[in-house]
Amino acid sequence: MKLLSILLLIIFCYCFVNIVYGIKQVHISLGTDETEMIVTWIKPNKHYYHSRFNASVYYGKSKTSLNQTVKAKSKYFKDGKTRYTTFRALMTKLKPGTKYYYRIKLDSKKSSLFKFKTMKNDENFLPRFAIYGDLGYRNAKSMPYLKKDVHKNLIDVIFHIGDFAYDLNSKNGRIGHKFMKLIEPIASKVPYMTCPGNHERHDNFSHYDSRFSMIGDRSQPIHSDPINKRLNNHFHSMTIGPATIILFSTEYYYYTKYGWQQIEHQYRWLEQELKLANENRQKHPWIIVMGHRPFYCVKVVDRSCDNQTMERKEIRQGIRMYEKGERQYGLEDLFFKYGVDIQFYGHEHFYARFFPIYKRKMYNGTKSNNPYDHPGAPIHITTGSAGSVKSHPVFHQSDDWVTKYLADYGYTRLMFEDKFRIRLQQISVDQNGKAMDEIEIIKSSSKPNWMHG
Ligand SMILES: [Fe+2]
Repeated sequence: MKLLSILLLIIFCYCFVNIVYGIKQVHISLGTDETEMIVTWIKPNKHYYHSRFNASVYYGKSKTSLNQTVKAKSKYFKDGKTRYTTFRALMTKLKPGTKYYYRIKLDSKKSSLFKFKTMKNDENFLPRFAIYGDLGYRNAKSMPYLKKDVHKNLIDVIFHIGDFAYDLNSKNGRIGHKFMKLIEPIASKVPYMTCPGNHERHDNFSHYDSRFSMIGDRSQPIHSDPINKRLNNHFHSMTIGPATIILFSTEYYYYTKYGWQQIEHQYRWLEQELKLANENRQKHPWIIVMGHRPFYCVKVVDRSCDNQTMERKEIRQGIRMYEKGERQYGLEDLFFKYGVDIQFYGHEHFYARFFPIYKRKMYNGTKSNNPYDHPGAPIHITTGSAGSVKSHPVFHQSDDWVTKYLADYGYTRLMFEDKFRIRLQQISVDQNGKAMDEIEIIKSSSKPNWMHG
């Protein structure tokens, strides 16, 4: 009798865990606009023939009434011994600035109940972001602080700008699964927006591509296409409150073994998006770009960095598409021409705040003592200290470009104070979440200062 009770208890526990906690690695990302949100999750799945699933997301404004439903699209992923199915569902007809609850149903399994808030679409929306690169599974130092920020409702969107998990493909994808479970408490609540880093290079970035869902046609959406066809996890743009934000791949310039044409393709797309962003400046005065490797390097011993001039020539000035050819598709001139206000990068495992810089020269604002008050060139921030496995590299600068350097683990907070004023904070994990750097970036019209000249 006692044995039977134990057996029943084990069966009950197994069923309970399977039903309530059987769906993991849940995260959300921004849809086409404020009325949409994408839910993505992964199910480890050895065999393709098992991949006919009945998967749906139930969502609604009240915990007790999940009265909207959408069927998820599934895609089987296989690379060597790594096999899983990715599920993606696009929630539509959401009300902007509203709290929603959602639950996933996959065959007989149900997930726990998650919640998120849609972005506001009114002129007065002042969003708050967390921005960082280089967050691993084993040494995810910033996670407790990010969790706290999300729990306290201090963050509207998270940007993880390359280098995930170390690595998503390691141990046949098991490190990727663990990492995605680790970020679930934040990424299931707040849109988790991404671009690739060098650690995603394995198998032509396929593990990275299969785990995230960034809409690639947000500025010219093709709503009739299924969600899986509309994705571009390498370069994509969005408007949030007073900003157009563009995420792009610096890795195309370094992994040309996967092809060259994507460098030009991305460059043309960037120019088109930047033109559009300038047409929309009245409504969205700020243009912010994010990528993985900084144009200006201050880390000693990095093969992509020219240690004489402290720059990554390929991305800053352009790449030689053939021997002795001209440098092409350099991004610094493009970003300057179209008035990109701020650029965020990771890769170097520290925080470095640059004076406004263009062509290796500094252009501080002259309106006040604050160099970021009407700056004369884009502001570059390196924020790659969220939690990598390697220790902090040696910092080195040959000029006075960097005005603040921090080796502490941490991440950047960006907060709009009003339409023309941004506050940036660098949160230090080593100092128990204290802001160890803080600046204000100010302008008074939609275009940056250097575009008025
Ligand atoms: Fe990196």
